[in-house]
Amino acid sequence: MSDDVYRLISPSGTESELPVYSGTTGPDVIDIARLYKEQGVFTYDPGFVATGSCESDITFIDGEKGILMYRGYPVEQLAANSNFIEVSYLLLHGDLPTAAQLEKFDHTIRTHTMLNEGMLNFFKGFRYDAHPMAMLSAVVGSMSAYYHGEMDASNPDHRDIFAHRILAKLPTIAAAAYKLNIGQPFMYPRNDLGYTENLLQMLFSVPAEPYEIDAVAAEALDLLFILHADHEQNCSTSTVRMAGSSGANPYSAIAAGISALWGPAHGGANEAVLTMLEEIGDTSQIGKYVNKAKDKSDPFRLMGFGHRVYKNFDPRATIIREMCHRVLEKLHREDTPLFDLARELEQVALKDDYFIEKNLYPNVDFYSGIIYRALGIPTSMFTVMFALGRSVGWAAHWREMISDPAGKIARPRQLYKGPATRDYKPIEER
Ligand code: CMC
Repeated sequence: MSDDVYRLISPSGTESELPVYSGTTGPDVIDIARLYKEQGVFTYDPGFVATGSCESDITFIDGEKGILMYRGYPVEQLAANSNFIEVSYLLLHGDLPTAAQLEKFDHTIRTHTMLNEGMLNFFKGFRYDAHPMAMLSAVVGSMSAYYHGEMDASNPDHRDIFAHRILAKLPTIAAAAYKLNIGQPFMYPRNDLGYTENLLQMLFSVPAEPYEIDAVAAEALDLLFILHADHEQNCSTSTVRMAGSSGANPYSAIAAGISALWGPAHGGANEAVLTMLEEIGDTSQIGKYVNKAKDKSDPFRLMGFGHRVYKNFDPRATIIREMCHRVLEKLHREDTPLFDLARELEQVALKDDYFIEKNLYPNVDFYSGIIYRALGIPTSMFTVMFALGRSVGWAAHWREMISDPAGKIARPRQLYKGPATRDYKPIEER
């Protein structure tokens, strides 16, 4: 399966012929697995800037050209023509479904939305102001307590049921976390509703009065979930793969992924963008904050700018930007000044030499927070929304990882810089 070889000669003259593999598209990779055996050295790449950690058929990104494809389909085409449930099927099964396959899949997801009633009791243990990401991670982790004995990772049916439960139950858990925060009763899922409609009713309805679902809100959430559904080997997905590679219960691997997503350098950026825009306040302050972001002695960064992979533009940001206009037109118009501020900030940064030289462009999180806010979703729930969309990507990657017959436990090496060997000293001699 090697397409070429890469010759590497050590300073002492030992030569290794390392296999080079080509993917469908994208850069070739050099297989360095035998380098240590042959040359006694490890490779060093903190943050995995140039390291492929696995082979995958799911998602492809070309960061230079701003391309994102799920199973070969450009995300722009999926955003324009598909919906989140169909995209979920595509990510999990590799191909777009037939009408009958889609109907069956949709029915399965709709009929797995309820939580074991005991799981709702977990929420009683959290303080009223617990961060919903902490609750999401904890309660999803607790699914491993409910579904452990019956989960056989070598059984393809069990792997399917796992993916269905993750996709179906995460909105119910997310909505319960929100209801706890605002002191309202949990709302049960309604299986007659579509995925995002059901989420909206669990978030915003109350038992005391009827709730009307806004079609634009449901459509906007569906689009955001499509755009968030997968992003190849990002931090949270790699975490799911790594935790799962030990054979750990997959629900706990997903909980680990949720924790990784929470950080402001990853999914937590959507929350951080809103906090930043509110801090900037109005357009007259933009120059000051752009200068802060450029100042090396100041830790401040423009949140929602920059990406490890996209060095031209983030195609998800382009699609979301358009949706942002539509949502603001239909819903809470009072957020328009915030959107105007975001647009002005974007323009100033795009013309600034620092941002141009470092290829820093608005990313998906720059606009998603404004849409969530216009939908009435509080800032602390933004990263939870990202997690709901990404959950199917995590499940697809866990399935791919665990089904790989050549799969190994993930176990990186290191460059040790600690003390050299030294002898233990009795405490009175230290
Ligand atoms: N504002 C100001 N300077 C920045 C920014 C920013 N947002 N992002 C990167 N830089 C600078 C950084 O200081 C560094 O400068 P220098 O080369 O002089 O040291 C250079 O650009 C490269 O940055 P890096 O941190 O080495 O790049 P990275 O690939 O490790 O980090 C990133 C990527 C997304 C973590 C980073 O751009 C960042 O912190 N952005 C803000 C947070 C954010 O919006 N995150 C969401 C990412 S998209 C959603 C997702 O996939 O989760």
